[in-house]
Amino acid sequence: MFGSWIIWALSVNIDQMKKEIKILAIETSCDETAAAVICGANENSKSECRNPKQIQNSNIQCPKILSNIISSQVDLHAKTGGVVPEVASRAHVEAIIPVVTEALQQAKLSQKSKVKSQKCKEGDLLEGITHVAVTAGPGLVGSLLVGFNTAKALAYSRNLPLIPINHIEGHIYSAMPARAESQKSVKLRVPGVEFPNLALTVSGGHTSLTLVGEHLKYKTLGQTIDDAAGEAFDKVAKLLDLGYPGGPEVSKLASKFRNKVKSQKSVKSKVQGIKFPRPLINKPNFNFSFSGLKTAVLTEVLRLKANSSNPTVSQKEEICFAFEEAAVDVLTTKTMRAAREFRPKGIILAGGVAANGRLREELKARIEKYNSEVEEKYKMNFYLPGPGMSGDNAAMIGLAAYYHIIAGESGDWRDTRIDANLSLV
Ligand code: KG4
Ligand code: ZN
Repeated sequence: MFGSWIIWALSVNIDQMKKEIKILAIETSCDETAAAVICGANENSKSECRNPKQIQNSNIQCPKILSNIISSQVDLHAKTGGVVPEVASRAHVEAIIPVVTEALQQAKLSQKSKVKSQKCKEGDLLEGITHVAVTAGPGLVGSLLVGFNTAKALAYSRNLPLIPINHIEGHIYSAMPARAESQKSVKLRVPGVEFPNLALTVSGGHTSLTLVGEHLKYKTLGQTIDDAAGEAFDKVAKLLDLGYPGGPEVSKLASKFRNKVKSQKSVKSKVQGIKFPRPLINKPNFNFSFSGLKTAVLTEVLRLKANSSNPTVSQKEEICFAFEEAAVDVLTTKTMRAAREFRPKGIILAGGVAANGRLREELKARIEKYNSEVEEKYKMNFYLPGPGMSGDNAAMIGLAAYYHIIAGESGDWRDTRIDANLSLV
């Protein structure tokens, strides 16, 4: 009698394990050491391979973000005005174990599977984890290796599958539906996403336009041929002595100038003063280029320096404004051109630069204008990353991994590698 109860309890437990996926995700591709725990129903408990269309059509309950810990190296790199790869990898080595431990502790998996009063030991933190996911590239080799080797060791220690994830794919998944635990309830971070959609990924290392046909199916339409958009923001900030990372600072100064323009008519005429080039804006492709724009800013700064001394605060504000307008114009023009050609159901804006208020506002306005001009069936949605998920984080890596797992994919630490130049398609 007692024996049969134990067998029943064990089978319930195994059944439960089959139904639940709990992913420990790790991201260290650049200068953020990040770990997260994601859980979701195992829609594919029979471990069969499904094509991505089936994933989309089956009514998947969205995965839940149980923890999302990020340790930023910003202060460290601010001293040098940019990421020094060697310094970044050393900082990852110091932070990785505390960050992974915190992500596991916050997810409270081991407490959930134990009697409440029983004290949870450090060694039990991995209990309940069914998969380990990690960024395999693109990124800085020394940085990628730290997260990758940690993930590999953890997968080995528990005989768990190791799922390698492309960093750009992670950024795209930062805007896919996920639930997050708020203080009292579980709430949806971003609304459901319809396919096909078009992803504009803009970060410090990447700028690309990707057509996402369905879950896990990508076609790169274009990318930067030189600097990334975020890199251009950072370099402009450096030229103007605004500190690192430059994106938020450039954006802040640009907003000040924009607000002045709105409030004082006299400043309006000055807007015509500086107009930077919009590289490749009229080229009939979906590639980007930001190095010429950065050089135009440098030329303007040198011109001001030749005439007087360093640029004044208001001159800096105007330069930031003109630069941001040019960058946003190119990014949104090319994205909308791709939208007109491929007719996606929505546009995803992802990556660190997706935090830029002006870019969000302009893309939204252009989508609304487009929607007002097209037939109902062509109208598009606008998808943004969940709160705090524009920049590098591990929750986005775990979300992408979740869809790979329910598509029936697995991964073995023995034959998984990093690739600093890993491409999405
Ligand atoms: O995605 P991310 O965290 O790292 C990479 O994968 O590169 O992106 C970081 C980039 C940096 O270049 C930073 O300056 C930029 O995103 N960024 C911004 C803003 N916030 C971050 N750029 C413009 N406006 C912002 N508000
Ligand atoms: Zn990134």
